[in-house]
Amino acid sequence: MTTATRSSYYSSGEHPHPEYELERLRAQALVFWPKELRHLQQLGLRPDMDVLDAGCGPGFITEALLESLPQGTVTGLELDAGLLAEARGRLAPEEGGRLKLLQGSITEAPLPDAGFDLALARLVLQHIAEPAQALTELGRLLRPGGRLVVADADDALWGSIHPGIPGLADVMELRRRHQSQRGGNRHVGRAVPAMMRAAGFTGITVEAVAVTSDELGMDALAGQLDVRARTALMVKEGVISEEQVERTQEEVEQFLADPASSFMLLMFLYSGVKQGGERR
Ligand SMILES: C[S@@+](CC[C@H](N)C(=O)[O-])C[C@H]1O[C@@H](n2cnc3c(N)ncnc32)[C@H](O)[C@@H]1O
Repeated sequence: MTTATRSSYYSSGEHPHPEYELERLRAQALVFWPKELRHLQQLGLRPDMDVLDAGCGPGFITEALLESLPQGTVTGLELDAGLLAEARGRLAPEEGGRLKLLQGSITEAPLPDAGFDLALARLVLQHIAEPAQALTELGRLLRPGGRLVVADADDALWGSIHPGIPGLADVMELRRRHQSQRGGNRHVGRAVPAMMRAAGFTGITVEAVAVTSDELGMDALAGQLDVRARTALMVKEGVISEEQVERTQEEVEQFLADPASSFMLLMFLYSGVKQGGERR
């Protein structure tokens, strides 16, 4: 694998609890999607558009996009063969019609120029060592006037916990460093608007999308706080001790059991338009 196609996300077979990670991605897609879709529609998503889901993973958002674009097409592009196979397994009846799934990197996509009205790169730039190259490539894939939406997070603005989980900040810092060592960047959010401008996008906008236990119930978000499952690879690689994990997991369980607890998770939608034409 070249540097350009390196990802800090778990490759197939690497996560010690793959079924947990799949379920976490599914829940994460489900909880954010209704609000995300409203923002995407405000940003010009129309039911007949050709949309690229860049870094589609197991395809939960790909599936949601397909449902939201009854006259459009969706192309899912994914680096990891195992995750793509997972998407193929679930979405097999749709493939070949309005849905295409293909393997490749968003930094050098096996797709022709100017084939899409909108490209969504969701929770993928934080896993890429060359995010600027990915944005330039996504610009190549868009039609003139087409829109890029980067949905990503920034660990400094990740959300809030009330009344608090004392050990969580230290675990998150260790996770941020671990992801950096693997070529990712959990602070990528703050850098996206400037990188978009440098890649030639105009009309940059940023929207914050919040999901809360108060709106959705704690169960809908609890999987995002499963410290034991989320740090399993870090334990295996000696980045964090089992003792620290278990101590924090216990605090998480107390937090989840307390009816007075509130949890908010944030994601940002950064968008820009490819120059050279009117959006249709
Ligand atoms: C956190 S998952 C998000 C999956 C999906 N976009 C979602 O929101 O549910 C990150 C995904 O990006 C993929 N990825 C990482 N680097 C990539 C690259 N250079 N090109 C394409 N996909 C990539 C990973 O394999 C993984 O499937």
